[in-house]
Amino acid sequence: MTTTNGYEQSDREERIGIVNLDELESRAEKIIPKGGFGYIAGGSEDEWTLRRNREAFNDVEILPRMLEGITKPSTATSLLGIDITTPIIMAPAAAQGLAHSRGEMATAEGFATAGTIMCQSTYGTTTIRQTAEAGKGAPWFFQLYMSNDWDFNHALIDEAKDNGAKAIILTVDSTQGGYREADIVNHFQFPLPMANLEQFSTRGSKGKGIAEIYAAAKQDITVSDLERIEEYSGLPVIVKGIEDPDDANLAIAAGAAAVWVSNHGGRQLNGGPAAFDVLPAVAEAVNGRVPVIFDSGIRRGSHVFKAIASGADVVALARPIIYGLALEGALGVRSVIEHLTHEFAIAMQLAGTRTVEDVKRATLIRRGSN
Ligand code: LAC
Repeated sequence: MTTTNGYEQSDREERIGIVNLDELESRAEKIIPKGGFGYIAGGSEDEWTLRRNREAFNDVEILPRMLEGITKPSTATSLLGIDITTPIIMAPAAAQGLAHSRGEMATAEGFATAGTIMCQSTYGTTTIRQTAEAGKGAPWFFQLYMSNDWDFNHALIDEAKDNGAKAIILTVDSTQGGYREADIVNHFQFPLPMANLEQFSTRGSKGKGIAEIYAAAKQDITVSDLERIEEYSGLPVIVKGIEDPDDANLAIAAGAAAVWVSNHGGRQLNGGPAAFDVLPAVAEAVNGRVPVIFDSGIRRGSHVFKAIASGADVVALARPIIYGLALEGALGVRSVIEHLTHEFAIAMQLAGTRTVEDVKRATLIRRGSN
């Protein structure tokens, strides 16, 4: 354990083995301090949407296919011209120092060794540079929480570009924090500084709650902000937090390089639908013009399969990665990605699909539809 500002951070690096991603949560709960765990695991209000994110996958079934002569399906694919070993990438997540003393640096290392894309959060515990360096040249994206202060936005984008970010992810669903009861009950305030806020802003972060941090971010985000970020950065800009086909169309019309379907892991608008339930309509509206990235609720290889068969090009996840980080550091991050990829490859084989492109064409059956 490393103790920082009275907060006990895991610094485990040993291999522990994974049976499935669900069991990681209770294992991680034993080693992440209560306030930090509540922040990571919690959703908003009574967590109905958080639960629906998981349950929605059970409303759809994968039709098994035989006699296709398939052996060893390939999970390799690409996103925005970047080759990856698996269609699973990091969902940006704040303050990973809550789970491990090496925080985002260990996550970046885990993603680099697994051969897929790390996404850094604006609210990381380590700086953009430190995290990028830990990835040792592996491709990564930078997630931007916009500020009203354009100097701050520009400083973050500059640092991301200088350190090799391949895309900017503009999160648009968090103009205010969801009502997160675990944080209220635990009186949770970030015990560790958010490195980018300390480095580029006078506002700081230590000792604040997420509602206060969000309150300093830009609330009235429009497509003109998106255009301004595209123009300033010259990088592909991915719009994250889309659930309505009209929003997807607006984002693409404003130049979005990809649409990221997500309800922020059930942490923002409670009472909204499962992200998986809105995916087909958004994917249909996007109609292949740009890639579709999907997160919120993925825990199983069969979930990865169902999301891709419903129109996603790649999927992302965060909580299980952070639990792997707490339990095993960089090795744990890699183990979570590899485990989920292993389950996905089994689903591919048994559903008669050889490639990720085949999965996109696979047949799903909505329960009760025949
Ligand atoms: C959260 C933000 C910071 O969900 O992404 O807490």
